[in-house]
Amino acid sequence: MLSYKAIQMRRVKNIVVVGVGQMGRGIAQVCLMARYNVTLMDVQENIVENAVSYVENGLNKIELKGQLQKGSTVNILENLRTTTNLSKAVNDADYIIEAIIEKLDVKQKVCKEALDNSPDHCIFASNTSSIRITDIAKTCNNPANVIGMHFFNPPPLMRLIEIVAGEKSSKKAMDIGVEVGENLPCLRGERYVPRVLKDRPGFIVNRVLAPGRIYSDYIYDLAYKKSIPWEQVDADISNPEAPMSTLVLADFIGRDVSLHTAEYYAETLSPDFAPGELVRKQVAEGNLGKKTGQGFYDWSKGRPQPDLSKKAGIVDPMVYTAIQANEGCRVLEEGVCHSWKVIDEAILAGMNFPGPMKFATKNYKQLAALLEEYTEKLQKPYLRPVELLKSGKFIEMA
Ligand code: NAI
Repeated sequence: MLSYKAIQMRRVKNIVVVGVGQMGRGIAQVCLMARYNVTLMDVQENIVENAVSYVENGLNKIELKGQLQKGSTVNILENLRTTTNLSKAVNDADYIIEAIIEKLDVKQKVCKEALDNSPDHCIFASNTSSIRITDIAKTCNNPANVIGMHFFNPPPLMRLIEIVAGEKSSKKAMDIGVEVGENLPCLRGERYVPRVLKDRPGFIVNRVLAPGRIYSDYIYDLAYKKSIPWEQVDADISNPEAPMSTLVLADFIGRDVSLHTAEYYAETLSPDFAPGELVRKQVAEGNLGKKTGQGFYDWSKGRPQPDLSKKAGIVDPMVYTAIQANEGCRVLEEGVCHSWKVIDEAILAGMNFPGPMKFATKNYKQLAALLEEYTEKLQKPYLRPVELLKSGKFIEMA
């Protein structure tokens, strides 16, 4: 049975979720399950209605499975309000979670309007995955009350919530963010709610995993040039335990999304993230994956079932571990967080697979040597091992 903290002991009682698309509706559901009063706000009635149905179905399913007390869905839904009017929605809000489209100017406008019309103590938490919290807060009158609250998809199932400090976020706002995050039940175990202390691209988890795409693009371009079948590359690159193979997942997410992510990191971290030849070709030709029926695989007859029995033998999985451990050290160097254990915990909670750092504590010399080799091979200076990894000094940051 899912539990929740006593309501009278909380600083936050009324939460408004602004933007109830894919992420917002799941966020609203877990806020309701924690027994907050929740208002759903979006730009159109029908979007709000769809979100209410989603939440209701979700709660009913959880109740049927016995994870919520019998009859509690009806009680929980009494705490749900809906509106399409932002300024009215927030007038008694203690905490606002924004999950609208990923556009800076729209987020800035919503942030300012929401804080101008809510009580002085109200916190504005953005679920952005790539925009700086400092930039979202720039045009509002109370940037100390603006933080990041980065959920993983889907919020009811993924344990991780990163609470992100913008340059002007107050400690109190961060504390309240962590408190709310820890109160939200998760269907797959205990929430993990780390503080992200610097407003850097990708926060913790997406950042540590980001440069692996430099190696992936190298492999895809190589396989394409050599006409190696994608099934064999997929067999090389996939974890046999994962619910979807890596290339099926890449098609599922969309090659356009991958291209934009690469461009984003090329702009914010290093030109070495520039997208590879194959992904640019796939996007230019409209082979985006599931949504267009063709990506690495043909989706016209439903989800592809690749035969992964034969490997191409062109991938060294240890290179991914080395690249991730190196990026973990960069995250520590930049002060995004202060402990390698937080990185491993966050990756496990957000992605369901173990992080690289514990392994690196025993094998950092081998990983650093591998990175030197691949820096030359791929001609990507960003992959060069950083001092904290080479020296093993990160181990002291436990
Ligand atoms: P979505 O497109 O499914 O939903 C966005 C919603 O915001 C739509 O319902 C739209 O009508 C609404 N909206 C747009 N402008 C608005 C405004 N001015 N006021 C109120 N509502 C408005 O998008 P999704 O995927 O839910 O993403 C939302 C945010 O969450 C983005 O910032 C995204 O980067 C972030 N995010 C998304 C993840 C994902 O896996 N989809 C994971 C983590 C973060």
